[in-house]
Amino acid sequence: MKTLSVVNHKGGVGKTTLTVVLLHLLAERGLKVLAVDLDPQANLTLCLTQNISEDIPQSYHLLIKGSSQPISLGNIDLIPSSLLLSQAEFELVSMHARELRLKRALSTFNSYDLILVDTPPNLGILTINALIASDGVLIPVETQFFSLSGLKHIFMVLQELEEYTGIKTQVVALAPTFYEKHVALHNKVLEELQKLPYKVLPPIPKRVGFQYASINRGDLKQLDQEALKILSTYAEEVIKWLRGT
Ligand SMILES: Nc1ncnc2c1ncn2[C@@H]1O[C@H](COP(=O)(O)OP(=O)(O)OP(=O)(O)O)[C@@H](O)[C@H]1O
Ligand SMILES: [Mg+2]
Repeated sequence: MKTLSVVNHKGGVGKTTLTVVLLHLLAERGLKVLAVDLDPQANLTLCLTQNISEDIPQSYHLLIKGSSQPISLGNIDLIPSSLLLSQAEFELVSMHARELRLKRALSTFNSYDLILVDTPPNLGILTINALIASDGVLIPVETQFFSLSGLKHIFMVLQELEEYTGIKTQVVALAPTFYEKHVALHNKVLEELQKLPYKVLPPIPKRVGFQYASINRGDLKQLDQEALKILSTYAEEVIKWLRGT
């Protein structure tokens, strides 16, 4: 079992969309996957379930009580989220080992091949918990100019976490998003990303199909063949990483 977080503190770069599509592609390939929604916006939960009752066990309980019961959605299990999670951010402030709580709670879910964590658009205590709990991170990056400076911030946080906790979280890959091949600036940003010492996966094209997938429980049939083929290379890359090859 390995844990992978999808992280970027910039909002709207495609974290949740990539998480949802990957969950489906990996489940289709026979992997036992657990999705954890660690964003109080609960977009992953809304996308996969359309609605949940606020009373059910969720990621708030995972962090604050130390455990939670996943809900089963066919071939994907989910620990959902709701606005209640924003309360956890305050409660954690007065708790000991506040940054290690997700790691401890997730260690009990060892029957899964992969735990995939969707994170909020900030580098606060929830995202720090996700980084520390994860073997690796997948970083969606919009193919826009300012994306590069935001990336440096994530690398700095990863380096500091390693220095202070001794826990190393691997950058599995960068995932360029909202790519339009005819836009020169997008290609320039792609070139800059490729100069970094990390694996850069094929750019995910900007397509309305992703938006339809989001509102249809991540239905892969909403994606065109080219988009699906590109995302399939992501699934294969995650499988290679799980196998350590
Ligand atoms: N490749 C794409 N092409 C077109 N639209 C996309 C693509 N990827 C995501 N979107 C749409 O862009 C919006 C933002 O995507 P998403 O919610 O996945 O980003 P996010 O990084 O999770 O945002 P947040 O930081 O708020 O959690 C959504 O409406 C989604 O449907
Ligand atoms: Mg999101």
